[in-house]
Amino acid sequence: MELRVGNDADIHTWEEVTLIYHSALKQINTKIEILNDEFQQVHRYNPIEHIKARIKTSESIVKKLKRHGYESTIENMVKYINDIAGIRVICSFTADIYQIADMISNQSDIRVIAVKDYIMNPKASGYRSYHMVVTVPVYLSDRIIDTKVEIQIRTVAMDFWASLEHKIQYKFEGNAPAHINSELLECAHMVSELDTRMLSLNDEIQAIAAQETDQKEPY
Ligand code: GTP
Ligand code: MG
Repeated sequence: MELRVGNDADIHTWEEVTLIYHSALKQINTKIEILNDEFQQVHRYNPIEHIKARIKTSESIVKKLKRHGYESTIENMVKYINDIAGIRVICSFTADIYQIADMISNQSDIRVIAVKDYIMNPKASGYRSYHMVVTVPVYLSDRIIDTKVEIQIRTVAMDFWASLEHKIQYKFEGNAPAHINSELLECAHMVSELDTRMLSLNDEIQAIAAQETDQKEPY
């Protein structure tokens, strides 16, 4: 039997949505874990601190569709909502982010459909992170479905900031007092400065470690 190459218009029920997006998340999760394991073996260092994956709840999918003026249908969900499956990769240094993003994009079965670099271009709130929407093929018994997954890659420090900011915005329903927003923005600048300094410290340590290994090499 030949597998039919479908697209997400081939998804018809909520059960199918859950199954397919869960499978897509598992695939991306495994790919990222493999890259991390290989990196550990080759470079003796783990670029990834941890990975979090989630499926958007049906309630928040419906809310988002409404916000964008779309009817709540399965067709609209898979067409317009890019973050039904979401994965967050937390790493130590800014340089790791771009390395991970490159390694993911270079895989031949992954198609990158959108990139938002909020590190080069932070949001007005101060939010920094690297976002990618990719598709990954999910193999079912009779068809292959290219499924969208939103990948957010950020440092531990960026994640610390984003979690607090998210909690604050949630508490104030997006209308936090001006002094809190400006304090958050200032913290975002400090986080950015911290990331830069930690990266350069790490580069220095790596260079010293490399020199020491060179000196130990037998002639
Ligand atoms: P959403 O409708 O929120 O999904 O935004 P979007 O479709 O315009 O995509 P974008 O890439 O801007 O944001 C996607 C996700 O990034 C959000 O769901 C959040 O998880 C995160 N995010 C974006 N902006 C902010 C921010 O200002 N603060 C925090 N804490 N998270 C943010
Ligand atoms: Mg979102």
